[in-house]
Amino acid sequence: MSLKPHGGELVNRENFSKETGHITAEITLDDIAVSDLELISNGAFSPLTGFLNQTDYESVVNDMRLADGTVWSIPITLPVSQEQVSLLEKGKEARLVYNGETFGTIEIEELYTPDKEKEAELVYTTTEDAHPGVKKLYERPDTYAAGPVTLVKEIPHQEFRTYYLKPAETRQTFADKGWETIVGFQTRNPVHRAHEYIQKTALETVDGLFLNPLVGATKADDIPADVRMESYEVLLKDYYPENRTFLAVFPAAMRYAGPREAVFHAMVRKNYGCTHFIVGRDHAGVGDYYGTYDAQHIFRNFTEEELGIKPLFFEHSFYCSKCENMASAKTCPHGKEDHVILSGTKVREMLKKGEHPPAEFSRPEVINVLIKGMKETVS
Ligand code: ADX
Repeated sequence: MSLKPHGGELVNRENFSKETGHITAEITLDDIAVSDLELISNGAFSPLTGFLNQTDYESVVNDMRLADGTVWSIPITLPVSQEQVSLLEKGKEARLVYNGETFGTIEIEELYTPDKEKEAELVYTTTEDAHPGVKKLYERPDTYAAGPVTLVKEIPHQEFRTYYLKPAETRQTFADKGWETIVGFQTRNPVHRAHEYIQKTALETVDGLFLNPLVGATKADDIPADVRMESYEVLLKDYYPENRTFLAVFPAAMRYAGPREAVFHAMVRKNYGCTHFIVGRDHAGVGDYYGTYDAQHIFRNFTEEELGIKPLFFEHSFYCSKCENMASAKTCPHGKEDHVILSGTKVREMLKKGEHPPAEFSRPEVINVLIKGMKETVS
């Protein structure tokens, strides 16, 4: 298993001494675009060096590959308002502005109009705007700007600053720890017993666990990232071996694209230096849009070689009161009545009311942090 980044080399599009004062054209970035800019520039989205041009975009939407054949399953695009499009010129630069500040530049290679219904259908498998990813896709402007970007100023992160590591830094960390095999874990949730079970099962066979929670834009009813971070800290402190676990954040937006996003998540974790990546049940899914194991089956479209990271698939896991253990249908012979299974919605409802889900579902230390955090968020 190689530790090579996707496409062979880690992209670096940061230049903090670049002057931008003379560039008049500008593009306003939303929360998704600013995180994409950051992740393209620091190499997390290697081999991308900018926002996709139309040829790559169509290739990604249709075939889950860039035009050169490299596996890439989510279109990373830069939607621009009509007002701003009229001031852009092909071949010229524009400043990338977030909250009134310039954080980057783009060399405008192309401006094009996407077929959003097609993008929705192929990437999200639905055109319904009840799907949060599709809703966002439709809400964003209708022209995409393409071209290489440069990050000219670090995106400020006030909270949990020390957990923002660039791929070059996580790679160095893993090397310093002497880890040769590292399993990456994506999550947008607190770590419950099922997550812990699959993480530790994977950890039995590799050198290190990279807990890499997504902390970019998520839908409103997901548990806020700051609350989750505290819950990860208390859990790691008491229940994970320090020399075999590493926590850093993934500042990307959540797309809820299920299977397609699972592939994307795996490619990005390869860039952070992982050799293995966990895909459990309904990875990056939402509602009933995807089958429980669709996010695992999609990996059949690619060879091991072109992925360059080994997906580790896990069955839906739960606590079984007869086994007196965490288990899955693969390891437990008992019926549903013996299994402790709670939906995310149910758990959020309980937490809001200050109720504790059972310890078999989530460790009490984690629940305490979540209840406290949810109270502070609501008040
Ligand atoms: S995700 O949107 O980030 O994928 P979540 O944080 O719920 O959502 O899941 C993180 C990872 O754990 C995903 O790979 C998911 O498939 C897996 N997972 C979550 N719950 C379970 C479970 N009960 N059994 C097996 N895998 C699970």
